[in-house]
Parts: sequence; C-alpha cells; structure tokens
Amino acid sequence: MTFKRRVAAATLVAALAIVPIARAHAEEADAESLVNALNAVFGSHKGQRAAHPHGVCVKGNFVASPDAASLTKAQHFNSKTPVGVIARFSMAGGDPNASNAQKDNPRGFAIHFDLGKDTTTDLVMISDPVFVARDPDQFLKLLTTVATHDNAKIGEYFKENPNSTRAAAWLNARPVPASFGTVDYWGVHAFTATNGEGKKQVFKYKAIPVAGDVGISDDEAKKKDPDFYRPELKDRFAKGPVEFKLTAILGQPGDPTDDPTELWPEDQRKSITLGTLSITGFEDQATCDGGIFDPTNLTDGIDGPENDKIFPMRSQAYAVSFSRRAAP
Ligand code: HEM
Repeated sequence: MTFKRRVAAATLVAALAIVPIARAHAEEADAESLVNALNAVFGSHKGQRAAHPHGVCVKGNFVASPDAASLTKAQHFNSKTPVGVIARFSMAGGDPNASNAQKDNPRGFAIHFDLGKDTTTDLVMISDPVFVARDPDQFLKLLTTVATHDNAKIGEYFKENPNSTRAAAWLNARPVPASFGTVDYWGVHAFTATNGEGKKQVFKYKAIPVAGDVGISDDEAKKKDPDFYRPELKDRFAKGPVEFKLTAILGQPGDPTDDPTELWPEDQRKSITLGTLSITGFEDQATCDGGIFDPTNLTDGIDGPENDKIFPMRSQAYAVSFSRRAAP
C-alpha cells in the first residue's frame, strides 16, 4: 500500500492562497502566521515539520472490536479483516533534536488507516488530553509571547491564560514515558460518531497501551540518550507488536466540544473499545514525510467538531508546513 498521496490538492491550494492581506488586527491567526510563529519559537529547519519534527515512522494494523459498530458505521471500525496502518510517533514542539527524555513535551501518535482504493482516514493524537490553546488566536498569542524570550511577558501570558497551563501541568504530574509504546494518547477534540441506524454520539479518542503506562524516574531520564525511543522500539518489535486498545470515551450533554483545552471527566464517562492497534515495525521515513497526517481527513461515520476553531486550522497549518518542507 502507498501513502504518498496525502495532501489533497484543494487543501494545499487553499492553504497557499491564504495571504496575509488586510487583517482585522495584528493578532488574528491564520495558517501562515501560525507556522511563522512556530518557526519564531523553534527555528526554521529546512525539510522538517514546523511542529513534531523529531519522529519515527512505523507500520502495523488495526483490528476492529465487535462493539465498534454500535458506535459508528465508519469502514475501518467495521472491517472483518485487519486494516493496514502507517503511523508516526513524535515529540511535540518544533525542535528536530527534542530529547525523548523531555517531560513537559507531549508525544505524538499520528495514524493513516488504509481504506483501500488509495484512500485513507487519519487520526492524530498526543500523550495528554488537552491542547495549549482554545482557538488559533490564543495559540498565536502564546507562540508570539514565547518567541520574545521575555520571562515577565511569558509569565503574564500564563497568568492571564490559565487554560494554556493545563497541558504542561498534566505532563509534569506524570513520569517521562519509558517508550512511545507505554503512554496513553488522546485525540483531544470531540468527534461525533454515527452508527448504521443513524444514531449520533459525541466522543473523544483515547489509545491505551496494552503494555501499560510505564514511566522512568527523573534521574533515569537525565541519563538517557536524546534518541533512546528508537532503539527501545527496535527491542520491543523483536519481541512482538506494540499494541494499543483504541477507545471512544462517550460524551454526555454539557461536555465541552468546542474547546480543546477543556478536560472531560473521563473516569466518570462510559467508553467503548473500538479495536486493537498493533504497531509491528519500522517503515521508511519517506512514507510518513511524503504528505501530512490530517486530522480532518475523516470518513463516513465520523465527523469533526463543529465549533472547535483549532480543528480546521490544523489541516491548513499542516498543509503550509508540508509545502515549505517539501520545497526544493
Ligand atoms: C492551531 C493549532 C495547531 C497548529 C497550528 C499545529 C501545527 C502543526 C504543524 C505545523 C505540524 C507539522 C505538519 C507537517 O508538516 O506535516 C503539526 C504536527 C502535529 N500536530 Fe499539530 N498543530 C495544532 C494543533 C494540534 C493539536 C490540537 C494536536 C493534538 C492532537 C496536534 C498534534 C500534532 C501531531 C501529533 C503532529 C505530528 C504529525 C506527524 O507525525 O506528521 N496539533 N502541528
């Protein structure tokens, strides 16, 4: 299977067409300004993603659980045979040398599910349940403030925007993951599933490692090579697949669906096991780099959030980042 066709031409053209003309005010975010702001914080690195550049491309499959059909009619969640996946684990931020031992930096887990006939659907997750900004303008403000390197201004930003502190607080309260394969990942946004009878249900994705949540101490982390996850994965693959139970946490009326900085009380929510993701080995880096993992690349039976402004902006920003990193 090939996963080279990733950026729909229309998406790319739309993203490139966004020119910074006549803005209402200086802090109104668009895809270009967000990628520029990421570059201002982390530097611009030729041929690399503006965010999550340090990563590893892997492959495997997904086997749907019998319960998944009660939630959604989506093809990959109803397949009677294993669905091929290409995935990428990564470190967040924009530093291509970000250490695998960092604590307050989420790990990323991006997945293309092969739907056949050269089509895919994507799921892009991180290792904490919330994002750092409720909307693109707030994210731009955060990035431009951090880019000043002025500690007083940065402190003031976080005081005025406490919702931006939740992600780091969550990560700092937990150990450094021992492996890309021993940490929970969340889809962060609220999706809506539609089943074969037309019943709709709001949910959030969570991938739970079958090997359990395993961390290392801060002292152990200090001694680790910045790239220790790749050899760690190699050892794991030699013993068998790295597995995750992909689950849907079911929302209740009143659970916020428009703000990815808001936590759902997931321990008080029912969940459904959608199936098992098995990551079986490494894949050529080029397979993951030849396009984007687009969270808005959905399939019939799953819809994105209607009023979450971060969600559609991601697709546009990823296309801008792709067009820059693919440029000669
Ligand atoms: C407006 C908000 C956001 C912006 C501007 C943004 C920006 C970016 C950019 C520019 C890339 C690199 C794309 C590429 O070159 O292929 C990226 C990758 C990524 N982002 Fe975001 N992002 C945003 C929100 C989020 C959220 C809410 C999540 C949480 C799930 C997330 C998770 C990821 C992951 C896991 C990757 C790596 C994908 C890969 O492995 O190729 N991002 N982001």
